[in-house]
Amino acid sequence: MRMNPSYAFDTFTKTHKQSEIERLTRNVASHSKALCEHFMANGLISSKKVLDVGYGTGAMLNMFASLMPETEFTGVDNSKDILESTNSIAEKNLRFIRSRLPFEDESFDFVYTRLVLMHNSEPLNIVREMRRVCKPGGIVVCVEIDDETAFFYPYAMEFSQLIRANIEYALRRGTDRTMGRKLFGIYKSLGLSNVKVITQTSDYEGPYDDLPFSLRLAMGPDEAKHLVDAELITDEQRMDWMAKINKFCEDPNRFYSGSFMYCFGKKP
Ligand SMILES: C[S@@+](CC[C@H](N)C(=O)[O-])C[C@H]1O[C@@H](n2cnc3c(N)ncnc32)[C@H](O)[C@@H]1O
Repeated sequence: MRMNPSYAFDTFTKTHKQSEIERLTRNVASHSKALCEHFMANGLISSKKVLDVGYGTGAMLNMFASLMPETEFTGVDNSKDILESTNSIAEKNLRFIRSRLPFEDESFDFVYTRLVLMHNSEPLNIVREMRRVCKPGGIVVCVEIDDETAFFYPYAMEFSQLIRANIEYALRRGTDRTMGRKLFGIYKSLGLSNVKVITQTSDYEGPYDDLPFSLRLAMGPDEAKHLVDAELITDEQRMDWMAKINKFCEDPNRFYSGSFMYCFGKKP
């Protein structure tokens, strides 16, 4: 499985590692209801052996394992440092392996990954591997974001342009923030059957105490100067949009929505 991930946890600074672990843990917590609903309704509930590819903090494995104590859960991750962050995992039916997919063909009933394909140069190969280790009749699940589904009010047009510039910036660095829409085609090309995509839009229950993540990411630490340097936006646009972000944050009626795409398919 060739990968070339753009997300290299092991190269992060100690502070960045800690903040990333906290962010990922919060992110899984805030999507736990949707994750449980969609996974349970699409095959997890009856699965005996489950694999999480790129488990990160292990928050999802922990959550599912506590709901399904009879099921054997396994996680793989290619970060050698990630194990430190999974020390708190208490469930006995978890097995962590820090490597690629070292499993026999047809080993699992349910194989899932979340926010991993977007960071890899060859997402098709990862899903092919997931398909390989899945049993016939088993389910392959990929959950990815698609930043172009993010929308804002007020300043919808300006922020969409900023998000679009960040998508391009990330793409040049090997991260595809529009992976969500590509899952259907990947599944079809690998011959998975009963392919379906659920677009899970975040329910807004503001007010935010922080900026929506996609906007914060686009701003970066330098108020989007890196996007100007990369010639993706002009400095005039940058200054206008930074002022509008401040106004957005002050607006008690501001609205934001973004989507995760859940793709399910059956191994024939
Ligand atoms: C953004 S995090 C997502 C973690 C977790 N799936 C979640 O939803 O919170 C991506 C994780 O995938 C791992 N990863 C990236 N590419 C991988 C690959 N090709 N094989 C295994 N793990 C990978 C990274 O080390 C990291 O822990």
